[in-house]
Amino acid sequence: MSGNNLEDLRASANKHLIPHFTKSKDWDAKNWPMIVEGEGCYVVDDRGRRRLDGLSGLFCVNLGYGREDLVGAAARQMKKLSFAPNWNEAHPSAIEASEMLASVAPADLNRTFFVNSGSEAVEAAIKFARQFFYATGQPWRRRIVTRHLAYHGTTMGALSATALPKIKRPFEPLLDGFSHISNSRAVSGIEDPRLIEEHLKLLEEEIIVLDPNSIALLIAEPIQNSGGAIAPPAGYWSGLRRICDKYGILLLADEVITGFGRLGSFFSVEDMGAVPDMITFAKGATSGYVPLGGLIVRDSLASQLYAAAPSFAHGSTFGAHPVATTVLAANVTAMAEEEILSSVKHLQSIFEKELARLQKAHRCVADLRGGGFLWALELARDADAGLELSPPQIEDIFGKVLPEALEETGLIVRPDDRGGAMIVIAPPLVADEEILGQLCDRLDTVLARVDHYCESLS
Ligand SMILES: Cc1ncc(COP(=O)(O)O)c(C=O)c1O
Repeated sequence: MSGNNLEDLRASANKHLIPHFTKSKDWDAKNWPMIVEGEGCYVVDDRGRRRLDGLSGLFCVNLGYGREDLVGAAARQMKKLSFAPNWNEAHPSAIEASEMLASVAPADLNRTFFVNSGSEAVEAAIKFARQFFYATGQPWRRRIVTRHLAYHGTTMGALSATALPKIKRPFEPLLDGFSHISNSRAVSGIEDPRLIEEHLKLLEEEIIVLDPNSIALLIAEPIQNSGGAIAPPAGYWSGLRRICDKYGILLLADEVITGFGRLGSFFSVEDMGAVPDMITFAKGATSGYVPLGGLIVRDSLASQLYAAAPSFAHGSTFGAHPVATTVLAANVTAMAEEEILSSVKHLQSIFEKELARLQKAHRCVADLRGGGFLWALELARDADAGLELSPPQIEDIFGKVLPEALEETGLIVRPDDRGGAMIVIAPPLVADEEILGQLCDRLDTVLARVDHYCESLS
């Protein structure tokens, strides 16, 4: 046993704990961070250093750490009914949470199937779409279409939907019937409706090549995280809706990151001009206090499936766990009481202005993309001179320059090298103007270190 000594704990972790998506050499290093406490927008590491969490854990802790209301709701529910399955019976907390979601989800998306993570939510959506068409007379519709660079999770179905070859290769063969089309990077920041229409035409052609009659489901994120907060232009989502309607394809908005206020709405896809057939969520649904994810579907889809099939042939022991669904309800209640959505909407332009100021001030920043409290800065060697970073330079920056600068400034953001060189920023939604200012000040120092490294190259 490691006892309470943190050095012992670290050694024990190296021996016993298998980390997620962590490079072996980092895990073995003496200085990998261990987070031991959290309060508000800050976490404390094992050396007693407070770090400003500019990533909300991993896009999870929307209402911040250490909240008595969420802790109290979970504890009360554990005492009253610590567990009940959602098979052939129900319990009040899952029912209340599903009713609450129906009231905040767009249009007739009124039915929720609860799971425990974003991957499981995507998995459930894939299975729902396939069984829907199997049961309702179009069994040939099996194909699932997602966009290049997209991350939709790690279970075998969600990983098949994911379009990042590096994390798929070790697990091949993956599932049959998954294809990827262009993401919205080419039209990100574009305002000319003609160019957007041209892009949508291109997407339609990609779908025609795949045979639209074979496609069950198109999955897209309102803002694509992987690739660096790729925000779509106005008219993009209504275009996706139009294409799906034309060919009878179901449309899923994967709001695992963008849901629960991150872009200033409970679900952001409606603001983008479309009502999807399904929404997946997780992460911020409970502000990360307990694991919970889910799939919300339109009334008519659920009714048709249940009319045509003996059951939705999917489920899990912990799906709709009473404690997790109780925390979701408490989280949604607190978001309403504290007017979190209007706060994000109000602060996003201030936040964007500050980030744009950093872009201007640092030659290493080539682009700023995103919305709400989800942003990415794309790095270059010298944006003014149009010089890009080479792969070894990206390795230096991500392996050394950024980790050291973030450690020094006490800031947590996400260096992300999938599809470029990005710094992803997603603070808790309770961050006020002062905390956002602090975040940008620390980021300023971090970017100065990257500038310095880039200057040293010439
Ligand atoms: C858009 C999206 N979908 C699905 C997932 C998978 O969620 P989880 O890690 O909870 O399985 C993620 C995770 O980051 C995500 O960003």
